Amino acid sequence: PALTPFVDKLPIPPTINVSNGTRLVLGAYKITQKLHRDLPPTTLYAYGTSQASASFPGPTLMAKKYITTSVRWENHIIDTEHMFTVDRSIHWADPPNGGVPMVVHLHGSETRSDSDGHPDAWFTAAGDVGPTFTSQNYVYPNDQEEALLWYHDHTVGMTRLNSAAGMVGLYFIKSVVEEALLLPSGPFEIPLVIQDRNFWANGSINFPDTGIFPEHPNWCPDYYGDTILVNGKVWPYLEVYRTKYRFRMLTAGNARFFNFSLSEPSLSFVQIGTDGGFLNKPLTMKTLLMAPAYRTDMIIDFSSLPVGTKVYMNNSAPIFFPGTPPPGTSIDNSPGQRQVMEFRVVAPPPGYNMPTVYVPSILAPTPDKNLNPYTDVQRNLTLNLSPPGTPFTLLLNNHRFMDPATESPKLYTTEIWSITNLIGTTHPIHIHLINFLMLDMQTFDQGRLNAGNCSLALQFPDPLSCFIEPPQPPIDAQAGWKDTIIVFDQKVTRLLLRWKPRYGVFTFDPTTEPGYVWHCHMLDHEDNDMMRPLVMRWI
Ligand code: C2O
Ligand code: CU
Repeated sequence: PALTPFVDKLPIPPTINVSNGTRLVLGAYKITQKLHRDLPPTTLYAYGTSQASASFPGPTLMAKKYITTSVRWENHIIDTEHMFTVDRSIHWADPPNGGVPMVVHLHGSETRSDSDGHPDAWFTAAGDVGPTFTSQNYVYPNDQEEALLWYHDHTVGMTRLNSAAGMVGLYFIKSVVEEALLLPSGPFEIPLVIQDRNFWANGSINFPDTGIFPEHPNWCPDYYGDTILVNGKVWPYLEVYRTKYRFRMLTAGNARFFNFSLSEPSLSFVQIGTDGGFLNKPLTMKTLLMAPAYRTDMIIDFSSLPVGTKVYMNNSAPIFFPGTPPPGTSIDNSPGQRQVMEFRVVAPPPGYNMPTVYVPSILAPTPDKNLNPYTDVQRNLTLNLSPPGTPFTLLLNNHRFMDPATESPKLYTTEIWSITNLIGTTHPIHIHLINFLMLDMQTFDQGRLNAGNCSLALQFPDPLSCFIEPPQPPIDAQAGWKDTIIVFDQKVTRLLLRWKPRYGVFTFDPTTEPGYVWHCHMLDHEDNDMMRPLVMRWI
């Protein structure tokens, strides 16, 4: 359906304080919700404290640094079949009594793995549970930097479906250090959850149910929508005063990358934080690149604009980022996905006391990229497709999710991961449990590599090296503490990982915990085996 943009006000999801020492009970429910003025109510699976209060996105959980949060996750979806078509040819939860399995991952959290939402720890309303299920009662220590985290479904083989159905919410870790920075706060600190969907005229979500590979009758490689939603509204508008605003952005589509820009040339994005917390210094930019699961902490200063100005936030990233879509796919040409939302500069009510805010020039210490020479482990990993003639899957290091763990880091050691992308497309790679730093990336010649007449083991400018340039420093979008990183096509991306979750010094128990995962955050890929176990060990 053709929907008029900028007719609905940007909603702000309800917030719940989770730092008061009591256990919050949050369930997933089947609800309907209006996502645009002219769209009939949409059926969704969404989180809330009750059927009546469940919402898309779910309630924003407000946690405090060092104060443990307890959440009991419940499944109140009593549908016997999922609202979208499950593909039974891929590895999936397959509950014996049917229903809609769910398990919740708090993305970015440093927590015990039995609270991490392991993909096989799913449970249904009827009481079926997956093989690594231990409990519905989760604990989040919040013993990590102040940042924007988010919770979403992580059920094996169904994450793309549960997420597209609405199972997403925000989670803030706040601190007194952050308060002392005097950044815009209260009504001037605004979360933006940005997603894409396709809709049928009756309001329901159009999720493809016909696969493009005969061996996967219902699985499609990438879900893209022609309609952009922010906080659960299609192309909303936000009224702003002539001052600085702090936007806490999350891009949470299944597969879509965004390259944001503002229609008003005098404005910039001032990025102050990424996935894992504050940057050392603010970065001023005209375009802001975000992959699925990226978070950006960002300031826009509207104070120079006259009342009445309208500013548009637009997106220029193509689908099948950064390339062009295959012939025959028309979705990339639809204008709708180029527009995101509108800002309307309005005057405050008479007598309104505009707060004084700053953007400090130093926000946090520079991350330490020095390595401990005694504990380094270098891992060479690949992104690749399954071999020709086998069912189509996307793989990490030529292994499937159910293959035994190969990434089994020792606690408190430092590792370098060199990830060589051989797929031919770009993928956002997410690693659970810790935040990491990107060291560099380096382009190689895939044609010569495939022909076998060069080596990735030799360094540029050796004529027999496949590399065509020296290592390049991270682009702005890859700076700071990250839990998800864009691994570009035909490049080797190097990451520095310190296996030092701050929470777990004495509680970590690898003999009873199910372990973690690392995976592609294009959810359709994650569901078709682009995910691997990650098992911590003491020795
Ligand atoms: Cu946001 Cu393992 O996921
Ligand atoms: Cu991928």
